[in-house]
Amino acid sequence: MNRVHIKTYGCQMNERDSEAVSAMLRARGYRMVASEDDCDVLLLNTCSVRDAAEQKAIGKAAYLSHRKKRQPDFVIGILGCMAQNRGAELLDKLPDVDLIVGTQKFHQVPDYLDNIRAARAAGVPISSSIVDIAEEAGSQNTIRDHVLAQDVAAASGGVGEEIAPQVSAFVSIQQGCNMDCAFCIVPKTRGDERSRPMDDIVAECRALANRGVREVTLLGQIVTSYGRRDYVHTDGISPFVQLLEKVSAIEGIERIRFTSPHPRGFKQDLVEAYGRLPKLCGYVHLPMQSGSNRILRAMNRPYTRERYLEIVDSLRAVRPDMYFSTDIIVGFPGETEEDFAETRELFGRANYDMAYIFKYSIRTGTPAATLGDQIPDEVKEARNAELLGLLQQNSLRRTATLIGTVEEVLVEGRDKTGERFMGRTRGNRVCVFDANPRLIGQLVPLKIERASVSTLYGELALAGVEG
Ligand code: 5AD
Repeated sequence: MNRVHIKTYGCQMNERDSEAVSAMLRARGYRMVASEDDCDVLLLNTCSVRDAAEQKAIGKAAYLSHRKKRQPDFVIGILGCMAQNRGAELLDKLPDVDLIVGTQKFHQVPDYLDNIRAARAAGVPISSSIVDIAEEAGSQNTIRDHVLAQDVAAASGGVGEEIAPQVSAFVSIQQGCNMDCAFCIVPKTRGDERSRPMDDIVAECRALANRGVREVTLLGQIVTSYGRRDYVHTDGISPFVQLLEKVSAIEGIERIRFTSPHPRGFKQDLVEAYGRLPKLCGYVHLPMQSGSNRILRAMNRPYTRERYLEIVDSLRAVRPDMYFSTDIIVGFPGETEEDFAETRELFGRANYDMAYIFKYSIRTGTPAATLGDQIPDEVKEARNAELLGLLQQNSLRRTATLIGTVEEVLVEGRDKTGERFMGRTRGNRVCVFDANPRLIGQLVPLKIERASVSTLYGELALAGVEG
């Protein structure tokens, strides 16, 4: 009765939290399984950022309740953002859920599962579900253990299989956010902004490097604010850039990415870091949200379209081949055709390689939820489609410039078919190519030959590398 499957919704932070919970459960003797059909415990790690994300997880939990009829000991848990946002109220709709654990209590999951299992083994009827959505000082420091692909392979026997070390890993550097963007539920679901100690993060990255990881993505809701209460600026260098310098100095780490920065905190020291830290990948995810100054003000986003573009231009001045991605919300309350035209214009000027475009979704409890002038769905849909069309054009244009060039690719492993290999460029483009398993974890030059919408195809560019 100890087989656990975790299904993760939402962002990379959630993926990282799920991985940390897996590591804790494994250490407690639980078996993590890849298939949700063959588990005794199913944990849904949830997202609240839009209503659709919550509805998806609620639908899934309701569907899983049926399984209790044929598998009476089956345990259902709801973790993370929706657990935090809705708490015990979830039980009104989902009375069969056994466990509700918020974003500051992930580390309690093993204890709670132990308790449930012990009670069941003793035949004690469980009268009520466990709900824990309390705040906990220092909880940001509990997201630190990893389960790498090689651990999973080793646990499943891995006999006769090639066990490739995991090449890329997420590292949580901070939890929570104090920004109060008018649309956003995250300050409620993730709590106050809290950073992890710099030395702990560096030690974690070093340990990952020693285990074969070559690329780390530093995660936080607002990484540009990292450590602002705990460390001082030195020679005009912010704590976040100090952290980037330290991670850069780790032997074995070849590439550094991070998400998400806030335009307000994207100062000159971070721009200049791109000039002096070659491991910092030339791909910046910089949420714009809107290109209209009026809407940015209504969103409580403290920057202007002019300042946003200035950051983009200054980064392109330091790295002309910089790639950008962004988050946009269309249909924020009161967004007029003129406001949207400004978003479209800035969207075009920034020339994104990738963008996540969201239709505004009312989140109860946020300041924007009670604003008048909500935008009809058809309008949101049309604006969404328009930006997606622009994005596709931009992305194809960029792809066309890549064909015939040689890109540095970090070989991650087999592709989906298992016959070829895949990796990413520094600009985060997925590449597929023929290679040798020994190249997994290596940076290789790849001559790009052709492309589909989302994938580049190429050939290793150095004779002898295949050796
Ligand atoms: N509606 C639509 N999109 C939202 N986001 C955050 N809150 C909402 C909302 N209420 C988007 C923002 C954010 C991304 C993670 O989700 O663009 O950057």
